[in-house]
Amino acid sequence: MTTFQKVHALIFLMLLISLLPLKITASPRTEAEAIVKWKNTLSPPLPPSLNSSWSLTNLGNLCNWDAIVCDNTNSTVSEINLSGYNLTGTLIGLDFASLPNLTQLNLNANNFGGSIPSAIGNLSKLTFLDLSHNLFEDILPYELGQLRELQYLNFYYNNLNGTIPYQLMNLPKLISLQVQNNKFAGKIPPQIGLLKKINYLYLYNNLFSGSIPVEIGNLKEMIELDLSQNQFSGQIPSTLWNLTNIQVMNLFFNELSGTIPMDIGNLTSLQIFDVNTNNLYGELPETITQLTVLRNFSVFTNNFTGSIPREFGKRPLPKSFRNCSSLTRVRLDDNHFTGSITDAFGVLPNLVFISLSRNQLVGELSPEWGECVNLTLMDMGSNKLSGKVPSELSKLSQLRYLSLHSNEFTGNIPPEIGNLGQLFMFNLSSNHLSGEIPKNYGRLAQLNNLDLSNNNFSGRIPRELGDCASLEILNVSHNHLSGKIPQSFSSMLSLQSIDFSYNNLSGRIPTGGVFQTATAEAYVGNNDLCDDFNDKYCIGKGGFGSVYRAHLLTGQVVAVKRLNISNSDEIPAVNRQSFENEIKSLTGVRHRNIIKLYGFCSWRGQMFLVYEHVERGSLGKVLYGEEGKLELRWATRLKIVQGIAHAISYLHTDCSPPIVHRDITLNNILLDSDFGPRLADFGTAKLLSSNTSTWTSVAGSYGYMAPELAQTMRVTDKCDVYSFGVVVLEIMMGKHPGELLTRMHSNKYLSSMEEAEVLLKDVLDQRLPPPTGQLAEAVVFTVTIALACTRVAPESRPMMRSVAQELSATTQAYLAEPFGMITISKLTGFQK
Ligand SMILES: *[C@@H]1O[C@H](CO)[C@@H](O)[C@H](O)[C@H]1NC(C)=O
Ligand SMILES: *[C@@H]1O[C@H](CO)[C@@H](O)[C@H](O)[C@H]1NC(C)=O
Ligand SMILES: *[C@@H]1O[C@H](CO)[C@@H](O)[C@H](O)[C@H]1NC(C)=O
Ligand SMILES: *[C@@H]1O[C@H](CO)[C@@H](O)[C@H](O)[C@H]1NC(C)=O
Ligand SMILES: *[C@@H]1O[C@H](CO)[C@@H](O)[C@H](O)[C@H]1NC(C)=O
Ligand SMILES: *[C@@H]1O[C@H](CO)[C@@H](O)[C@H](O)[C@H]1NC(C)=O
Ligand SMILES: *[C@@H]1O[C@H](CO)[C@@H](O)[C@H](O)[C@H]1NC(C)=O
Ligand SMILES: *[C@@H]1O[C@H](CO)[C@@H](O)[C@H](O)[C@H]1NC(C)=O
Ligand SMILES: *[C@@H]1O[C@H](CO)[C@@H](O)[C@H](O)[C@H]1NC(C)=O
Ligand SMILES: *[C@@H]1O[C@H](CO)[C@@H](O)[C@H](O)[C@H]1NC(C)=O
Ligand SMILES: *[C@@H]1O[C@H](CO)[C@@H](O)[C@H](O)[C@H]1NC(C)=O
Ligand SMILES: *[C@@H]1O[C@H](CO)[C@@H](O)[C@H](O)[C@H]1NC(C)=O
Repeated sequence: MTTFQKVHALIFLMLLISLLPLKITASPRTEAEAIVKWKNTLSPPLPPSLNSSWSLTNLGNLCNWDAIVCDNTNSTVSEINLSGYNLTGTLIGLDFASLPNLTQLNLNANNFGGSIPSAIGNLSKLTFLDLSHNLFEDILPYELGQLRELQYLNFYYNNLNGTIPYQLMNLPKLISLQVQNNKFAGKIPPQIGLLKKINYLYLYNNLFSGSIPVEIGNLKEMIELDLSQNQFSGQIPSTLWNLTNIQVMNLFFNELSGTIPMDIGNLTSLQIFDVNTNNLYGELPETITQLTVLRNFSVFTNNFTGSIPREFGKRPLPKSFRNCSSLTRVRLDDNHFTGSITDAFGVLPNLVFISLSRNQLVGELSPEWGECVNLTLMDMGSNKLSGKVPSELSKLSQLRYLSLHSNEFTGNIPPEIGNLGQLFMFNLSSNHLSGEIPKNYGRLAQLNNLDLSNNNFSGRIPRELGDCASLEILNVSHNHLSGKIPQSFSSMLSLQSIDFSYNNLSGRIPTGGVFQTATAEAYVGNNDLCDDFNDKYCIGKGGFGSVYRAHLLTGQVVAVKRLNISNSDEIPAVNRQSFENEIKSLTGVRHRNIIKLYGFCSWRGQMFLVYEHVERGSLGKVLYGEEGKLELRWATRLKIVQGIAHAISYLHTDCSPPIVHRDITLNNILLDSDFGPRLADFGTAKLLSSNTSTWTSVAGSYGYMAPELAQTMRVTDKCDVYSFGVVVLEIMMGKHPGELLTRMHSNKYLSSMEEAEVLLKDVLDQRLPPPTGQLAEAVVFTVTIALACTRVAPESRPMMRSVAQELSATTQAYLAEPFGMITISKLTGFQK
């Protein structure tokens, strides 16, 4: 090459370079190309600033591209920050190897998905990697472990799974590792102990299991450790109590067991300690009183025992009022703490939230609680606290939630509570509180839920309560309140749920709103408080009254039985009282085959019983109607018999005191839409008897009564067994078994030859084809039991419990001879 040629070549080269933007070398071009290539894989729309700047025609400006930062030489890309750009795409199209000088990559809060490519391990200078709040899935590539410069590594809120690769623990400079809210599983590798610089370790809300590695205790610079909401088990390693710089330790919602040792007192920087919902037990060590900067302390839903350490939450020194504690939240609920709260807590002026509910604490609420002026929630429910409710609580002007339910508080309740303008929820139920409900409570403008039930409150319900304009739930049931429900309540549009049951209330129920739609259960158990009934809904008349179908405005349909008591002069007041008591106990009976009695009320000399409405009506009506043939097939009848047996067995053996029905007949068994039976109408017979322990001829139904009643008038559970036997035979025979029973009961006067001629197949309901196979076996077995139940001697009848058990047992008697040849006498001998 001549000099001339060299000069020409040089000029050409200079020309060429001058045509390109300044300072562009091969490396930035590669970086720019890699970024633009990746951009082209992202889903539109892209933010305009990004779309226009990330372009090969804009190469000279690479360091000014949107979201791109170069290093201080202005020649190589050091940061990509797309945080919050809302981009959709994957990382597959990003050539990491072309970006070797990247130190920060922030893709937080986008819609990136797919897996994290292993090539990310090429970013060897990376100090900051944040892929949080995306849709990344699949496992983490172990190549991340090559990023030895990393200080911040965040993957939270993705769908990542698998384990955390142990190679990730080989990052000696890591300060923060946040992988919470993913689906990571498996054990934490012991190599975690290598993360010597870690300050923030968030593994919460994943599926991690196994024990917490003891090596975590090596991470002396830890400030916040959050392992909550996983499946960690075993003990809290003792090394954890060596993390003296720790401020936050959250281990809640795991399966940790064991105790909390005294060493917890060494964690003097601890501000938040939350181990709720684990299987921890033992006593809380006294040393927690050394945790002077503690703000949140939550140990609820564990198995802790013992007392709350005295002086808890108090600074040892100084004792002056303002400085006494930093505690703002205390949750110790749902444990087995015992001891007295009277002195356990001092004045905690910063306290915002305290829940000690569901423990076995005793003692009184001291007036000093009135000094916790920032308290918004106080839950002391389900303990054994006693004494009066201190009027000083009215000084807690921020209080929104006050629950003292299920304790042993006594005396009047302070009217001053009415000054708590923020109060939203107020629950005093199930105590021994008495006196009147203070008028002042009408001033609780924010009150949403007021529960005063199960106390001894008396007097009238104050009209002023109608001024609680936000009240949605009101329960004053099970007290001794009298007078009317104030008409002012009609205008309480916010009310959605009410319960006035079991008081001495009387008069008309207010009109409108919830008062119309409430179920009968809201009013039962009062003396003179009732819904009018219209004759057009009468669905039946019995000997002692009429039955109505009542549509409540809620859509609920109930059956209401009206008993005209005033006309029955023969009913002494004492009987009426015992009847009422019995009905009260029956409202507590819950069994699938017993009709639900919602309650009763009396009004203008009439007694109303409010029942569940059962669609098909009585078994008698169904058996003798067209349905008897079409739908009451053998299997259905057997199912009905089993249900009735269980219902009676329940009354006899599972109720305390046992209940004898006294009037089991086909008409007192109702069938639901699936032919499921419901035993109904008990207690009624007793009302009409003149002596509560005996049965007069007035009551009971002829043809179902046990024969001994004619002589002794003694009602026992065996009377029910007899009636049950009759009912079962009637179900099987499709007619009343009177004739058969007379014959059997007088069999000692007849020759066995004559009796032998009655074949089972001939007495069964002839409207159905005879049962075959297993059904035949079950029918034979059922009739056998029914015959045993109708034995003359009460003591030879089986107990209802064994009847119910045997009828439900799947194994039935094997038929020793053909079905058509089985005689009744054979069956009566079967169980002798
Ligand atoms: C990375 O940075 C180094 C030192 O600044 C530089 O020499 C190198 O060219 C850069 N690489 C790229 C691809 O820009
Ligand atoms: C990017 O901008 C170009 C014009 O420069 C436009 O044609 C294209 O639709 C834009 N793409 C996206 C994904 O917004
Ligand atoms: C890099 O560019 C910025 C502006 O684009 C400029 O202020 C700075 O001085 C440049 N630094 C170097 C080392 O060229
Ligand atoms: C990235 O961008 C976000 C949002 O603009 C900003 O808060 C953050 O400080 C930036 N830098 C890094 C390193 O994430
Ligand atoms: C994010 O992008 C989606 C579509 O990819 C869009 O529906 C949504 O409105 C965007 N959100 C924001 C905050 O830009
Ligand atoms: C980049 O990563 C891939 C996949 O891990 C690897 O095969 C490749 O050698 C890496 N390239 C460089 C330059 O490190
Ligand atoms: C992890 O997620 C990927 C895709 O999201 C799935 O194919 C894989 O089965 C998951 N692995 C485990 C262990 O759950
Ligand atoms: C606590 O740490 C010290 C050193 O910092 C060590 O000597 C001691 O054994 C540790 N104790 C426990 C229980 O891990
Ligand atoms: C806690 O402190 C006590 C007294 O300084 C010490 O004996 C004990 O080993 C410490 N516990 C832990 C786990 O470091
Ligand atoms: C709590 O302890 C009782 C006996 O003390 C035990 O029956 C129960 O299973 C324990 N509950 C838990 C959650 O550990
Ligand atoms: C700690 O208490 C503060 C203030 O009551 C509350 O905002 C925060 O959620 C609590 N943190 C935990 C972990 O319970
Ligand atoms: C109550 O809370 C307020 C606001 O957080 C605070 O300024 C005040 O100091 C607290 N009062 C007490 C006695 O701690």
